[in-house]
Amino acid sequence: MSLTRRGFLASAGSGLLVAAAPAFAKKANAAEIYTLPSLDYSHSALEPVIGAETMELHHGKHAAGYARNLNKLIPGTSLEGQSLEDIIKTAAADRGTYQTVLNNAGQHWNHTEFWKMLVPGGTGVPGSLQKKIESDFGSFEEFREQLVNVSSKQFGSGWGWLAIDNSGKLVVLSTPNGENPLVHDMVPLLGIDVWEHAYYVDYRNRRKEYVAAVVDSIVNWEYVNARLANA
Ligand SMILES: [Fe+2]
Repeated sequence: MSLTRRGFLASAGSGLLVAAAPAFAKKANAAEIYTLPSLDYSHSALEPVIGAETMELHHGKHAAGYARNLNKLIPGTSLEGQSLEDIIKTAAADRGTYQTVLNNAGQHWNHTEFWKMLVPGGTGVPGSLQKKIESDFGSFEEFREQLVNVSSKQFGSGWGWLAIDNSGKLVVLSTPNGENPLVHDMVPLLGIDVWEHAYYVDYRNRRKEYVAAVVDSIVNWEYVNARLANA
């Protein structure tokens, strides 16, 4: 039996074959460490802000790919056993060694949280979050303007964020590729995916329109507030 054939059969999930081919058993088990989270809503539930086709591709293909890549990158390294947050911070501090890990660990964290930061129809902004935003930005409108502008102007692929910095102040920032505020010693509260895979099917090149629609219509501010309370 060729290696390719054995690999295919082992990855096909047969317990008998995995037991008979221990070299592949580790990979089969390791593949279960990072998993694609299921959504709390259907692929079409965020329409018309985000279409079902986008969600099917974004959640089912792109996000799934980051988890799959991570399962190949982490096992057997010194990062194995660390929390995902610690893996991101460690990788960011040694990009020469871990740039690919940073890309995929960041994207797995970002997407896992992104699905929870959204909810069909959005929620109201809880009073405690509203007060904190008004205190740190002057007004909710000013914060909203900064978030939409900074997110939509991120050059190339990346994310726009509301985060809390290490002095306890709310800040808006954007990050490239799979990075997130954890890399900058901040706690991410809300992330807006501005990779083209997040909006191009629905909005083509109108990124700012997509960001504004997300911020105005489908943010789970109650979840953002809970993240603030735990920060
Ligand atoms: Fe994405």
